[in-house]
Amino acid sequence: MARRKKIYEGKAKILYEGPEPGTIVQYFKDDATAFNAEKKAVIDGKGVLNNRLSEYFMTGLNQIGVPTHFIKRLNMREQLVRQVEIVPLEVIVRNYAAGTMSKRLGLEEGTQLPRPIVEYSYKDDSLGDPLVSEEHIAAFGWASQQDMDDILSLALRVNDFMSGVMYGVGIKLIDFKIEIGRVYDGDFQRLIVADEISPDSCRLWDIETGQKLDKDVFRRDLGSLTDAYTEVAKRLGVMPKNSTPITKPTLIN
Ligand code: CDP
Repeated sequence: MARRKKIYEGKAKILYEGPEPGTIVQYFKDDATAFNAEKKAVIDGKGVLNNRLSEYFMTGLNQIGVPTHFIKRLNMREQLVRQVEIVPLEVIVRNYAAGTMSKRLGLEEGTQLPRPIVEYSYKDDSLGDPLVSEEHIAAFGWASQQDMDDILSLALRVNDFMSGVMYGVGIKLIDFKIEIGRVYDGDFQRLIVADEISPDSCRLWDIETGQKLDKDVFRRDLGSLTDAYTEVAKRLGVMPKNSTPITKPTLIN
């Protein structure tokens, strides 16, 4: 088989040229990073879980009419997606205070916000993805006013979908990040949800116990990240309830 052309390698994923023009193969690595890659580890099985979970959320979004880049899962670690031009913003939606918002505003983590709050940061690792306002976005031409209206609407629809899906399995969606891609259908351009949606980019707390089931487990050394993501996958029925955690080899005597 001809070796595929690597287009880009990021912290958690690799992108390869897809089989047809306008498509990309997105490969999920096991690498975990936090604090702008100051903390790093390889977490056995994380890529497999995130591939499955992102497939699950993106498929659901596509089915309710929220357009995403997801086409189909190819195998354990890869999915076929539409090629997009990434808008250089991280779009963060928050339902409860946590992380940097708690620090910035002195709010206790878990404080319910009066309404979902959407924030934007400029995608630039060397700057640590700084928080920016719509003024910056307009002035520097990162997105037009029409784009910003569309992005806000997509972000809130993803929030309603994700909150509902999580509520159904006893999990509170504290916050999440999405990325947006631009696609061209002939002369017509539109914005779709791109990148990934997984416990790497969400904060997920068990409703009953408050237990964290997301990347904060890694950031804050709270236990096994694979166990946390496996729990989310099991509750959603993405992995059969009784399956052996994929990370632990079964020992046969
Ligand atoms: O995660 P951190 O505290 O650094 O930043 P935040 O602004 O509180 O993050 C809000 C949400 O966006 C969390 O669910 C993060 O996991 C997610 N996020 C992300 O996935 N990637 C980033 N570069 C920044 C935030």
